[in-house]
Amino acid sequence: MSVETTERVKTGVTGLDDLIEGGLPAGRVILVSGEPGSGKTILASQFLVSGIRKFGETGLFVCMEEARNHLYREMKRFGWDLEGLESAGSLGFVDATPLRLLPEKVNIGDVAIDRGDFSMMTLIQAINKEVQRIKPKRIVVDPITSLIIQYPDIIQRRGAILDLVGALVSSGATCIMTSELRHTGLKRRLDVEEFLSHGVILLQNHLINGSIVRAIQVEKMRETNCETQPKPYKISSSGIEVFAKESVFR
Ligand SMILES: Nc1ncnc2c1ncn2[C@@H]1O[C@H](COP(=O)(O)OP(=O)(O)OP(=O)(O)O)[C@@H](O)[C@H]1O
Ligand SMILES: [Mg+2]
Repeated sequence: MSVETTERVKTGVTGLDDLIEGGLPAGRVILVSGEPGSGKTILASQFLVSGIRKFGETGLFVCMEEARNHLYREMKRFGWDLEGLESAGSLGFVDATPLRLLPEKVNIGDVAIDRGDFSMMTLIQAINKEVQRIKPKRIVVDPITSLIIQYPDIIQRRGAILDLVGALVSSGATCIMTSELRHTGLKRRLDVEEFLSHGVILLQNHLINGSIVRAIQVEKMRETNCETQPKPYKISSSGIEVFAKESVFR
């Protein structure tokens, strides 16, 4: 019986691909979870822009919380012209920010649907529509936090995340979802989205000898013999760079 080898999708983040056998496993859904300002949106955009520029792969940005013009302006500082890529047809964009404004119950005819369920249905429909149109090879959903905290019940939350992961998998694209890291430390409580994603990359700050060090850690990556030690990274005008050969703790 032959076992197919896993196709790798380069993230475009220098050093990160060295930790994961050359890239993300194709067609999988990877969670990038990090503290505020840790670079989640930058990493996700770098992944999309690098796919378009280096490999001619179309991308889809699903923006959950930030205004499009703010996102475009922030990313332009790294030389990434998302607006231009969108006009050229290489990048699709789903603005999911209006979902936040929905009332607690949405009435469809005689049926009242919870905000969470309605948001998820609407989001998946919008993603599917853009997937049909642009046929992306890479998709980013940034961030999923406000969506999933609408499900305080853990069983419903699992179901909702599985629906989203299922929709992303059926697109055939390699996907990054970002989330806010809610618990830190070695004995931290794991969030359900970490179990349900195929891979998890953490972006955290560590206090080392009185200084704050930014560290990236591959917590899990299916189909991959990955380096799970945290590695230092920096954010500069060219985006995120990971120092794969260095260590955070000596
Ligand atoms: N040119 C730059 N050089 C160095 N650091 C930068 C530069 N531009 C932005 N940053 C850093 O990147 C951070 C923002 O990155 P990003 O927006 O990707 O974070 P995030 O994890 O998505 O944050 P949030 O949780 O608020 O969405 C800023 O806090 C800043 O420290
Ligand atoms: Mg962000």
